[in-house]
Amino acid sequence: MNGRDLVRSMKAVGSAGAAQRLRTVRAAWRTRRADAAGLPTRGAERARVPGPVLEAEPGPGGGVVRFSRSELRITVAVNGAVFWGWDGAGPEPSYALAGRCPEPDPRAVLEPDKDGGWRVVAERATVVVSRHGAVEVQTPGGVTLRRDLPPRWWEPVGGGAGRWMQRSEVSADARFFGLGGRASGPRLRGGTYRLWNTDPGRAFGPGDDPLYLTMPVQLVVADAGTHLVFHDTSWDGTVTLREGEEGAGSGHDRPGASELRMSGGPLRCWVMVGTPARVLLAWASLTGAPALPPAWALGHQHARWGFGSEQEVRRIVAGYQERDLPLDAVHLDIDHYDEHQVFTVDQERFPKLPQLAEDLRRDGVRLVSIVDPAVRAEPGNAVYESGTVVDAFVRDAAGQLVRGEAWAGESVFPDFTHARVREWWGGLYKERLAQGFAGFWHDMNEPTSFTAFGEPTLPRSARHALEGRGGDHREAHNVYGLCMARAAYEGVRESAPRERPFVFSRSGWAGLQRYGGTWSGDVATGWPGLRASLALVMGLGLCGVPYSGPDVGGFDGSPSPELYLRWFQLGAYLPLFRTHASLRAGRREPWEFGPEVLEHARVALLERRRLLPYFMTLAHLARRTGTPYVRPLWWGIPEDRALRDCEDAFLLGDCLLVAPVLDPGADRRAVQLPRGRWYDTATGRAYDGPGQILVDAPLSRIPVLARAGAVLPVRGEDGGLELEVWAPARGRTGGGLVVPDVGDGWDEPEIERYVARWQGRRVVVEREGEDGVSAPPHPVRVRGVEER
Ligand code: NOJ
Repeated sequence: MNGRDLVRSMKAVGSAGAAQRLRTVRAAWRTRRADAAGLPTRGAERARVPGPVLEAEPGPGGGVVRFSRSELRITVAVNGAVFWGWDGAGPEPSYALAGRCPEPDPRAVLEPDKDGGWRVVAERATVVVSRHGAVEVQTPGGVTLRRDLPPRWWEPVGGGAGRWMQRSEVSADARFFGLGGRASGPRLRGGTYRLWNTDPGRAFGPGDDPLYLTMPVQLVVADAGTHLVFHDTSWDGTVTLREGEEGAGSGHDRPGASELRMSGGPLRCWVMVGTPARVLLAWASLTGAPALPPAWALGHQHARWGFGSEQEVRRIVAGYQERDLPLDAVHLDIDHYDEHQVFTVDQERFPKLPQLAEDLRRDGVRLVSIVDPAVRAEPGNAVYESGTVVDAFVRDAAGQLVRGEAWAGESVFPDFTHARVREWWGGLYKERLAQGFAGFWHDMNEPTSFTAFGEPTLPRSARHALEGRGGDHREAHNVYGLCMARAAYEGVRESAPRERPFVFSRSGWAGLQRYGGTWSGDVATGWPGLRASLALVMGLGLCGVPYSGPDVGGFDGSPSPELYLRWFQLGAYLPLFRTHASLRAGRREPWEFGPEVLEHARVALLERRRLLPYFMTLAHLARRTGTPYVRPLWWGIPEDRALRDCEDAFLLGDCLLVAPVLDPGADRRAVQLPRGRWYDTATGRAYDGPGQILVDAPLSRIPVLARAGAVLPVRGEDGGLELEVWAPARGRTGGGLVVPDVGDGWDEPEIERYVARWQGRRVVVEREGEDGVSAPPHPVRVRGVEER
């Protein structure tokens, strides 16, 4: 954007600003009035607990245990996941589940337990129900992983949705992860976390909670085993965690605790037990396989709010090209819309968008479009008019359209919880595809409506279809972004059936991975924001959403050259590698921070490009197994307590350990190594874990270590696939999986399996097939032999 454009757009924002502020006051009052009229008032409540057990009735995969004031249904599914629901709640309907609920495991049976309780013994877990309704999940060896105390309900005396509370205990050594995207993680310390998708309204740091994408998913890692618990309820709630203490006070352990308080919805949950990999596999089989991104979405992407014009986009792309810097996608923010209206183009600033898209595509650069859900409520706006025809927009309890305030002014909001609305909305992406866009960036879909006071979202009383069941925003709010992602994914798939849709969404809920990924949102520029970026990606991966990444450089302000570079170096190893910044923020192009930063950023970009086949393999493995690309160091060894507490490094797949620099002024850093041999990929030097090592981290790079025995696919100098092999430790073998993907489309590439072993003084690599081993069909480069 040149100086004149900048002044012009600032002025536009300024004068629009006063009118908009007024509208946010009106929107806030409207919300308050709507809720006063449309929500039940909180009057007298009656508290209830299950009461003493009366009887039990075995059924497929478990059965029903009846108490004097409630009943508990338990089912073990064939994928090993355990479901239980109180008050007759079953697993369906659910926004989290992918398709139908898995079949019950006929081998799991309900049988009497001691003291009048009951239990279900299954292959991977035993569930023990006490006679007062405490539910314990044990390993097959009988060690308790989680004990849920009898729940408590508070119900309005006059009837209606009640709220409830569930207290649970875990072992003293357990660590909590998950709950969606949390800036303070990945290990969740004691404190209260809210379950209500929220735009914080400004750039956020580690202390801000909640953020855009919450979900009631806890991954709990303890010596005795790992489990994931998912409370399938989309209502507003809080989770209060307390980490345990070993030998606290009198020498006794104090267990870890979690207290879930929900304002409504069924009390039902799923629990999965096993190794982290088994748990995430079961979770993905329940909630859906992560969508496979096209290969270009695993490359480098550049975004900015306020490119302002086609010329500026071309200038940025040329900047990358002139400097030989890889670039795979450019994202257009709301400033390319006509007055911020979704599914439109500002013809003055972007007069030939399809041409621009075509030119960029010829150079290997895709265009990605932002898509906001709010639709300006104005006759003449084609999206508003076509939405009106299908009655697409959310109404209040009195049947009036709910009007909120968004970038485009007074707006209405599609009700994505209705199949007809999703279909209509999904069809609108045809316009985007015709403009030449190849991918979609969903924003503001918590949903956010600007309000001068109160919550920046729709009134809680707003009505939603909820797939025909009917309900209000209290239940629909948290699944709004999820349903919007579904609409886009299904619509794009239908309009461009030969390509893999690329959708990533700011808000979402359990199951978002079926449709795409997410990103950090407006992470604050600063070293704490850099740390939060990594926490978000790791935490989301453990909730089943493996594709995400931060705004490299931070959303607001201007990072120092050092901070920008360290962010860039971290981003190069995260699934979504995208620079982005706000309208008023400083520049984010790698050449804007001086020649030294440019050279080091180039190294990071080239390394990312070299690792692309590895990222593609990780995307395939995530789709098949639910295992995230980015994993905490404890992934394979959850019983290693030092690793459980390590939050400043991560595994990228099985092969690499990445140790980003998260503090200013560092030129070395400590790295906690998991067991086994690891090579510093920059020097080839070998280290033996477990233990802590100190490695160089000059400005030119962040430490990346390769696991001895690793076989990873990389892009060779000629663009073809090569195998990079790191020598196994003597007397050991290694190996790896490679999924050679053509980059897009739906063909299922065959997984290639490799083994690496010593043969005399050489390391040989062979491909394992059904009919024995053969020579790899790709060039092989062995490292770590000569350097030892
Ligand atoms: C908020 C998003 O988080 C940010 O990435 C985007 O630039 C602005 N909205 C403007 O669309």
